[in-house]
Amino acid sequence: MYPKPIFIKHANQVITLKGSSQQPLAREKMSDLHIIEDGAVWVEDGLIKATGKTADLAAQYQSRLEEAEIIDASGKILLPGLVDPHTHLVYAGSREEEFNMRLNGATYMDIMNNGGGIHATTSMTRKASEEELVQESLIRLDCFLKHGVTTVEAKSGYGLDWDTEHKQLLAAKKADKLHPIDVVPTFMGAHAVPAEYKENPDAFIDLVIEEMLPKVAEEKLAEFNDIFCERGVFTPEQSRKLLEAGKKFGLTPKIHADEIEPYEGAELAAEVGAISADHLLRASDNGMEMMAEKGVIGVLLPGTAFFLMAEAARGRRMIDKGVPVALSTDCNPGSSPTCSMPFMMNLACMHMGLTPAEAITAATINAAHAINRAKEIGSIEQGKKADLLLLNVPNYMQMQYHYGMNHTDTVIKNGEIVVKGGSLCCQR
Ligand code: NIG
Ligand code: FE
Repeated sequence: MYPKPIFIKHANQVITLKGSSQQPLAREKMSDLHIIEDGAVWVEDGLIKATGKTADLAAQYQSRLEEAEIIDASGKILLPGLVDPHTHLVYAGSREEEFNMRLNGATYMDIMNNGGGIHATTSMTRKASEEELVQESLIRLDCFLKHGVTTVEAKSGYGLDWDTEHKQLLAAKKADKLHPIDVVPTFMGAHAVPAEYKENPDAFIDLVIEEMLPKVAEEKLAEFNDIFCERGVFTPEQSRKLLEAGKKFGLTPKIHADEIEPYEGAELAAEVGAISADHLLRASDNGMEMMAEKGVIGVLLPGTAFFLMAEAARGRRMIDKGVPVALSTDCNPGSSPTCSMPFMMNLACMHMGLTPAEAITAATINAAHAINRAKEIGSIEQGKKADLLLLNVPNYMQMQYHYGMNHTDTVIKNGEIVVKGGSLCCQR
């Protein structure tokens, strides 16, 4: 049962991103937002039924205006709901002590190699119950929703053993059911080498391939298969083996690539036909070119570079080389403890050289492509899900210009108003 129709009228700008559902946008196409000035949208049965100039839509729906909830969007802009294509949503605990250690000179990899980092969250997540993981995830999802995000990807990877990976994926599924935000699951059994396999990481990869992948596929727990390909974690050879094995189980490859050091992760993403390569702080020019040729989406995580105080990924160069770029929070307790996609968009402009228009494309339709959802979400077009974000700014450039602020006024998810005046107004 859907609520009554919604008529959004007089938006200063409706950012439609029309015509982008087939392929991720690259190069100059990332700047073409297909804006309707003084725009309107008619929402019904959870879907976008019509878009156009306010005068035209008001005339078209004249006989039905009385039955609709009317939102006067004067002075505001309407975007597709933001899509976050890379999160580690489901975990227990927090790691502010490590943040303090890093501010005192320790590095992210030092902390991890000394049993902290991913290992610390793994031991807290192993101890948590499924219900506790669900509750922690729901709190984070509320925060995402208040920042205008209507779909998130969520990875496992804080188990490094089957029982905990399973528990995380089940928690993601429950959170998806209980919360208005759609949660798209990714299996990331190979997120770190567990202490038990420190001397023999190859045996751990074999365990993931032989014992975990078949169960993930059988229980339909995930759509994507991800790995942390990084010097000191998993090698490109181990990554290739796992990602190829996942394909046989119908899992589409994703990869944490070239985050801390150049390691030919971008090249590997192109070779295995990954849907996206993520991070890419140290990706080579050759890797970028190979990604562009194969249409691999570069999911950039500017918050991670910011929080690790590292040099950002070369987003401008990737776009100029033809890589379709998407943006994400990388929401996780170690390298990016945030749910703010708008701030990621600000950082992409300030530290990666994206323009405000490119940042919007990267956080909507290209992000939807990176999780194989571009047919349903990511643009404002007839027949797509009514996932919409009304921002309290008069034009899209101001979204980036007034940085570090949450301009969210109203969020509509599946045709239902879930945030009003910046506050949650939905039941869960
Ligand atoms: O994407 N780099 C690997 N994984 C996460 C961080 C996980 C953590 O520190 O807990 C990332 O940055
Ligand atoms: Fe990540």
